[in-house]
Amino acid sequence: MIRLNTTNLMTFIDAEEIEHMAPQIEVAHHMLHKKNGPGNDFLGWLDLPVEYDKEEFRRIRTAAAKIRKESDILLVIGIGGSYLGARAAIELLGHSFSNATDKKTRKAPMVLFCGNSISATYFSDLMDLLEGKRVSVNIISKSGTTTEPAIAFRVIRAYMEKRYGRQEARNRIYATTDRSKGALKGLSDQEGYESFVVPDDIGGRYSVLTAVGLLPIAVAGIDIREIMRGAKDAAKAYRKATLADNDCYLYAAARNCLLRRGYTTEVMVNYEPGYHFMTEWWKQLYGESEGKNGRGIFPAGVDNTTDLHSMGQYIQDGRRMLFETVVNFVNPRRSFGIPEDPENLDGLNFLSGMDMNEVNFKALQGTVLAHIDGGVPNMVLSVSDMNAYCLGELVYFFEKACAISGYLLSVNPFNQPGVEAYKKNMFALLGKPGFEKERAELEARLTGKG
Ligand code: PA5
Repeated sequence: MIRLNTTNLMTFIDAEEIEHMAPQIEVAHHMLHKKNGPGNDFLGWLDLPVEYDKEEFRRIRTAAAKIRKESDILLVIGIGGSYLGARAAIELLGHSFSNATDKKTRKAPMVLFCGNSISATYFSDLMDLLEGKRVSVNIISKSGTTTEPAIAFRVIRAYMEKRYGRQEARNRIYATTDRSKGALKGLSDQEGYESFVVPDDIGGRYSVLTAVGLLPIAVAGIDIREIMRGAKDAAKAYRKATLADNDCYLYAAARNCLLRRGYTTEVMVNYEPGYHFMTEWWKQLYGESEGKNGRGIFPAGVDNTTDLHSMGQYIQDGRRMLFETVVNFVNPRRSFGIPEDPENLDGLNFLSGMDMNEVNFKALQGTVLAHIDGGVPNMVLSVSDMNAYCLGELVYFFEKACAISGYLLSVNPFNQPGVEAYKKNMFALLGKPGFEKERAELEARLTGKG
């Protein structure tokens, strides 16, 4: 269960400002559901929790069971939307030190990620881990041509074939890609890898509830049926066009009211370290969806209370263009009592017998109030449990709010034209055939001659 509380915004905006967004929200809602807005060929995620391919879902669960049986490590190769959702779910719902525990405790293979950077150091360190372990691989790329995962897969495929032989490597490599096009699809067909589909009408950052996210998540031992159940209930709950009945739309409306008041950066705040990658996933979702044509809210994140000792100073006292969305898990996954110390040398006996969760919650409440005093508006998103069902709800909540918010900003929330600029320059500087003119221009600029 998710609840959004916007009471703390009322020091900064008037309630009517949000209410006045209702007609715009309704327009965005109808554009989304009638599928006549910008990017309307990428709306497959909207009804996915109900209309997902049940046969493929069954294959995902079967493949996950096979990988769990045959592997000590699942190596997931992907970047952006082809990686963040799975990592977010696994880190939120799994043991905090999952990969450091033994397999008996973990009851699942280690899930490791690569192809999300071009760091030789990261890659070499990863290769050190593979020795002596049984490895399976899930290469994930919708386009099948993204440079970072393609480089990683070139190396890993060669490693797997050398280590296991081509036939067994084929048995251990799983490809998640486009139904019919792209280099990965061609390779996957040629080698006969078991493959899963990223539907044509679902973009990378909206794809966590497809095989893209579900296969690695299932391998980690998380119940993907519960995730889909949560997402399905959220799809039903957030289908009402009226702002007053729909917390998902309230979130979209509130953040846009704040933007219009000059609060241009949204900080996602959590008090659970396991949420860190959920924030990374959310940053990509909102950053790539909204940041275009000179518009958008800059998505940032902090992990508290850790970051109260680093970014806390800026948030309390720095330039005033920030607002916060604070995620509060009402029932965290575990509890831990604080013991009594007879000597009380640290003076902390006033906390004896308390659960750490209570202390953490007081830190949240205290910080929220301090930040209001410091001029930072905030909303609190209460999530009842740190479990698979609530994760499904959260994913859908943020996806739909993002689409609505993008329409309120008059951008196409489903494309990412800006991502191409760095790629073009990188290919030119690397000497890719066909980029000779660009290369000369860029090198002149880099050497100060252009
Ligand atoms: O949201 C998006 O579309 C992107 O972030 C992609 O997920 C990312 O660029 C990876 O693309 P691909 O899956 O084609 O390798």
